[in-house]
Amino acid sequence: MANSALKAKPKDTVFNTGIERGNADAMAEKLGDALADSFSLYLKTLGVHWNVVGPSFFGLHKLTEAQYEDLAAAIDLLAERIRALGHLAPAAFGDYARRSVVESDETVRSSGEMIDALIKDNEAVARRLREAVATAEEADDVFTADMLTARIGKHEENVWMLRAVAA
Ligand SMILES: [Fe+2]
Repeated sequence: MANSALKAKPKDTVFNTGIERGNADAMAEKLGDALADSFSLYLKTLGVHWNVVGPSFFGLHKLTEAQYEDLAAAIDLLAERIRALGHLAPAAFGDYARRSVVESDETVRSSGEMIDALIKDNEAVARRLREAVATAEEADDVFTADMLTARIGKHEENVWMLRAVAA
């Protein structure tokens, strides 16, 4: 659930391009979840980049760098889409922890555990994005549907590459 303070803000920045107000509100809610997931995954990916050790160190270090850079760009696009739909973008660790499906309870674990967790988190984020795409399609919000669909492909690619490098 979104913070009620976010919902109470004026929605005077919304365009009149064919997305109904209620649908834009529902979409902003889903985008807020996607933002929380992506930010949490960004942080967790950085943790692997910094802390991973072992024979695959160099590959995992470089791969996670590419992945956190992609996530950083995605976070900004998700937040700005929320703004375009007339809502405030959540930008607090408390909001992200409450809303994200990515567990971030502890920083350092064994390298194998960190990679396994990162793979599972990418999968969980992709599954949740799939629900958000369904919301976008119901809302006829084609731009958001495209954006989120591309994100699903990226998380699926992340899973493949993490598995391949860590194998
Ligand atoms: Fe680095």
